[in-house]
Amino acid sequence: MSLFKLPAALWAVICCLPALAYGAPTDWASLHCPSNSADGLPTPTYGSDQIVFTVCAELNISAPLNDVYNAILNFQAYPSWNTFVFAVDLPPNVTTTPADDYVGMPMTFHTAGVLPLSNSTSNEILTVLDPANPSGYSLSAWRYDDGLGGFGMRAEHPNVLVDVGDGVTHYLSFETYYIGPETALVLLLKGNLQTEFEKQAADLKAYVEGS
Ligand SMILES: *[C@@H]1O[C@H](CO)[C@@H](O)[C@H](O)[C@H]1NC(C)=O
Ligand SMILES: *[C@@H]1O[C@H](CO)[C@@H](O)[C@H](O)[C@H]1NC(C)=O
Ligand SMILES: *[C@@H]1O[C@H](CO)[C@@H](O)[C@H](O)[C@H]1NC(C)=O
Repeated sequence: MSLFKLPAALWAVICCLPALAYGAPTDWASLHCPSNSADGLPTPTYGSDQIVFTVCAELNISAPLNDVYNAILNFQAYPSWNTFVFAVDLPPNVTTTPADDYVGMPMTFHTAGVLPLSNSTSNEILTVLDPANPSGYSLSAWRYDDGLGGFGMRAEHPNVLVDVGDGVTHYLSFETYYIGPETALVLLLKGNLQTEFEKQAADLKAYVEGS
């Protein structure tokens, strides 16, 4: 085994086995934003181990669950409401969202407010499309694609929706960041990310309730 392969193999064990070993099912509908960002929330792809921090927003939206679900996945409409992710680049064969969305779909998010002086981009991959889970929630998610198979940074953004009655949908949106070399840099931006997640939630509520 070469010197390079040994650390890679060790890292694979450290990063991936715990998720498989302790993959206790998450009760998505019961999750709430943690009061301490270091008490992170689990994600579908990476589980609950090796979390560095979670940024999170939750609120109630006075609209049917399906309307909220479709708004979250209608990436083409983001420029009309989302001040955080103000544009999304999609594959050429995806001409209508959310209808053409598929698990594995690569996207480039254009984001404002993360870095102090400039906009930023991040490559993301759609990981979950579950509009009506029998357990009483809906879940969609995408994960950060570092282009290094997760060696740079692992992060995932789930959106959990629960119908709380009276035409109201509870929206929980968070991103959990896991141990990795790039995560140390992102930790410096945690405050900005948290602010932008709160803005994005307020933007979504205004957009869905107004439409
Ligand atoms: C959302 O509404 C439910 C049901 O009325 C309520 O229990 C919950 O506290 C509300 N959550 C928020 C974040 O306002
Ligand atoms: C677009 O391409 C991807 C990957 O080749 C495929 O999985 C998906 O079904 C395609 N979508 C449409 C709407 O053609
Ligand atoms: C970020 O992009 C938006 C939309 O293209 C633009 O209006 C804004 O000036 C940009 N902000 C910075 C800091 O470059």
